[in-house]
Amino acid sequence: MPKITIVTLLPGEIEKVIDVCKFSPINSELEIEIIYPQKDVSSHQAGNLKLTKFEDVQELPVPDKSHICFFASPISCDLYRKQAKINVSSLYVHPELAILQLQSDNPFKTKLSDYGLSPCVLEGDAAADLYIEQDRLIYFCDFQQFMQNKKPNFVLLSTNTQFVESLISMDSAHWEHFHPELNYRNLCVGYNNPHRLLLHSQKQLLRLIRIPDSIYDLGGIRYSQQDDSTAYSFFATHYDQYMDHVDYESWVNYVLSWFKQYSSLQLNKILELACGTANFSEQLVNRGYQVYACDNSIDMLHMAAKKAVKPILYYASLTDPIPGRNYQLIICMFDSINYLTQAKQITKTLNEVSLALENGGLFVFDISTLENSLDNFSDVSELYHYSDGLMLHQAWFESVRLMQKSALHFFKKDTIGYCYQYEQHLQRVYFTNELIELIHNSPLKLRAIHSTDTKTNFYPKHLNSIDEKYSRLFFILEKI
Ligand SMILES: C[S@@+](CC[C@H](N)C(=O)[O-])C[C@H]1O[C@@H](n2cnc3c(N)ncnc32)[C@H](O)[C@@H]1O
Repeated sequence: MPKITIVTLLPGEIEKVIDVCKFSPINSELEIEIIYPQKDVSSHQAGNLKLTKFEDVQELPVPDKSHICFFASPISCDLYRKQAKINVSSLYVHPELAILQLQSDNPFKTKLSDYGLSPCVLEGDAAADLYIEQDRLIYFCDFQQFMQNKKPNFVLLSTNTQFVESLISMDSAHWEHFHPELNYRNLCVGYNNPHRLLLHSQKQLLRLIRIPDSIYDLGGIRYSQQDDSTAYSFFATHYDQYMDHVDYESWVNYVLSWFKQYSSLQLNKILELACGTANFSEQLVNRGYQVYACDNSIDMLHMAAKKAVKPILYYASLTDPIPGRNYQLIICMFDSINYLTQAKQITKTLNEVSLALENGGLFVFDISTLENSLDNFSDVSELYHYSDGLMLHQAWFESVRLMQKSALHFFKKDTIGYCYQYEQHLQRVYFTNELIELIHNSPLKLRAIHSTDTKTNFYPKHLNSIDEKYSRLFFILEKI
């Protein structure tokens, strides 16, 4: 069985590691084992994770093709190095750059050229003396010259810790961190984006994305990095503040009044798809309903889980089969449906929703319309100030492909200045008629299309120009 092992040696770190694993979509085909020192006694219930006490630091599990091993954090790795009295180097891989950080008392004996890589060094860096193939080294007078001339297979060797740290603090979410001599990775709990890294490894082991041939397969690592959607990663921590202006309570009132109007069922069990930080579901739980909620951003689910009142949360994509059945109401709010950029994904979601609804139950979703994109998200740049940094939001609309794009640049304050984070959001604008046709070809029946600006049901008699008149439309579908 494919397996992920996370070794944690820092006292108290195990709680953070369990927290990271909490929403990992662990299934029966995959095992996650957390190895921790004997003295670090944890009282946590770990669900379907396996917890193993670590007896001897010399006996690290050895990764193979069906096994990915992590140190929980760089500090855990440092502690391991001290206790086991060995020195290991670090390989940092970014979509644009690869750096091999060598330890000054540890000659690096692997020939990078055997893997098609070109070792590079800046003049004056002691790394040149530690590398075995001296005659293969490509020298650069400074970092700027290296950046101007680099090729995808270039690896910059360095012993300068501060230089390497300042490089990886830029765009920190997109670096992967390996220990080549051990074939271990760093999960970077407490630093980067551990949830995504873990999910990424799970996908690799389940062969959902291409597995790199080795730690030196930079092409393979970068290829799988591309697959990793960045939306709602760092932004998860700012989402609730960003949405502060939204009156979720009145939205809940609208949805519940439509349920009364269009369904004869007694409402009890509700599912929210793409729930984000569960602002909507939180209100429904408060009103006494049994609420389940899922999202495909682990970071958003982590924020949701911190709330005092919350639904039962789980990880899933909008197009995944829905595990539960007999929901009276399924909702998908705040233009989450627009994140499905292909019509066939909408069809898949409608089919899955239909299977999970009770007969007579409703599916309510909203869309951001053409009007919203043209009026509010066409060539927009806005700067937001948060207590921990600044965010620049750029938005533009590609009218030919009907794609609404957003780039979020975050300059996060940290101990050595600012660390740069970036994520991109891609949404598709759908015309009402296009959605009506998709719904007609699905097992669900379209009952109504509403806006919160008027009481009129636009379907089927008042459809004219509604995409240009209203910024948000709510679709109400029934399972018959
Ligand atoms: C604008 S937020 C809305 C969140 C929440 N529904 C609300 O009302 O605040 C969009 C949400 O959709 C989620 N999302 C985007 N694509 C998704 C997909 N394919 N499957 C599941 N969730 C998705 C994002 O992670 C994000 O949480």
